[in-house]
Amino acid sequence: MRGLRLSSILAVVAVGASAIPTKGISSPYDGFKVFRVKTQGHPSAIQEKLSNITFEQWNHDVNSHIDIVVAPDQLPVFAELGLEFDVMHEDLGASIAAESVHSSLWKRQAGDPSWFDSYHDYNDHIEYFQSLHDLFPDNSEIISSGSSYENRSLYGIHLWGTGGPGKPAVLYHGTVHAREWISTATTEYLTYKLVTGYNAGDRDARSALDKYDFYIIPIVNPDGFAYTQTTQRLWRKNRQPGPNGSTCYGRDINRNWEFAWDANPLGASTNPCSQTYKGERPSDTPENQGLDKLVRQLRDGAGIKLYIDWHSYGQYILSPFGYKDTLYAPELGKWTKAAQIVSDAIRDSSSDLTTFTFGPSGATLYPTTGAAPDHVYSIGRAEFSYTIELRDIGRYGFVLPPELIRPTVEEQWAGQKVLWSLLDEEFFDGVGPA
Ligand SMILES: *[C@@H]1O[C@H](CO)[C@@H](O)[C@H](O)[C@H]1NC(C)=O
Ligand SMILES: *[C@@H]1O[C@H](CO)[C@@H](O)[C@H](O)[C@H]1NC(C)=O
Ligand SMILES: *[C@@H]1O[C@H](CO)[C@@H](O)[C@H](O)[C@H]1NC(C)=O
Ligand SMILES: [Zn+2]
Repeated sequence: MRGLRLSSILAVVAVGASAIPTKGISSPYDGFKVFRVKTQGHPSAIQEKLSNITFEQWNHDVNSHIDIVVAPDQLPVFAELGLEFDVMHEDLGASIAAESVHSSLWKRQAGDPSWFDSYHDYNDHIEYFQSLHDLFPDNSEIISSGSSYENRSLYGIHLWGTGGPGKPAVLYHGTVHAREWISTATTEYLTYKLVTGYNAGDRDARSALDKYDFYIIPIVNPDGFAYTQTTQRLWRKNRQPGPNGSTCYGRDINRNWEFAWDANPLGASTNPCSQTYKGERPSDTPENQGLDKLVRQLRDGAGIKLYIDWHSYGQYILSPFGYKDTLYAPELGKWTKAAQIVSDAIRDSSSDLTTFTFGPSGATLYPTTGAAPDHVYSIGRAEFSYTIELRDIGRYGFVLPPELIRPTVEEQWAGQKVLWSLLDEEFFDGVGPA
């Protein structure tokens, strides 16, 4: 049951928001709780009980648990349902307030890692990439992958090493889902480590940039991202008005890619009010059009070696295909092997032994149509193409406290530098389809 009861909770949120003066973004969720309800392999029985209340569901893989946001007026009924659960957020409003977005206060040097101790607003993110470019003027350029519906830039950076630019591309997209803030920080951290590492003679940064051109776009859904910081922290889609006079806003840019857009009715929603609304036609979001244009340009240039779409949460490394859970690409063996090595590197680097589950997206998690990795592999001909779902596995979900930014981004550096080092290895020869 995808997007279960979503429209009703959006109504609840809207009522909460209008009842409270607009001071900060936390107020609409004051008193809301987030629960991880155990399903123990029997989600439908639990879903039936939950149908007695309104809630917003955070996860789609409901076999072991359902993560739900419950409004204050629903809590007494929820308590009577007799469910087994853990509390993820005792007061979601307070957790959001504790994320404390720093806006227009950022005056530090780009080389200062304390950038990764807090969350930041859109304009400061632009400034941050500009300052990373200033640290690396001869080996980088600020780029744009087009404009959003509200005309914000899908800005990014292009990095290269010795003899560049012009090598095969590593392409990273962050923040396609507006509320997944940790993906912004992660793509920025990888950029920061590449730039400062290259300047300092770091072996991993040098060898990666001497082999590949990096194209890193940290916020591919800037309108949605801005909206999560002004209005509704848990917004996911872009901010395009609905079709046919629908009052619901937004299309899911990651269900809007052309390849296999309409291949599986379970893979996305046709309802403009759903969080996974796919649009009326493939690539009918300005954001997707700009992103796809760059994908095709890179394909027709030196080619795409590696693509990663960074998301949260759940700790997964997922390869094509998403649209069909029984379809295995010929490259699946090497993709899975590489994902396993990345997963091991992350685990070994983290003090708390973070584990990532890996495999083909549709079979491992749930079907998705019009999602980026299928398209960038099938149309963009990327040799490696993944979705990475970052921390956590359901303690905090989308609202990850700022003190967890550093451990999250640092373990991804550990994973990526291992991945870059083996993309061209003969190591993969003979690894057949899994
Ligand atoms: C849920 O609602 C149904 C009626 O819609 C009622 O019969 C049932 O007792 C309720 N269950 C719980 C656990 O409250
Ligand atoms: C975006 O820019 C275009 C061209 O300047 C303009 O026509 C359009 O109204 C703008 N859209 C928004 C939402 O501001
Ligand atoms: C909007 O209208 C068009 C044309 O009638 C129709 O094909 C489409 O399905 C409608 N979309 C929605 C979401 O109702
Ligand atoms: Zn996502």
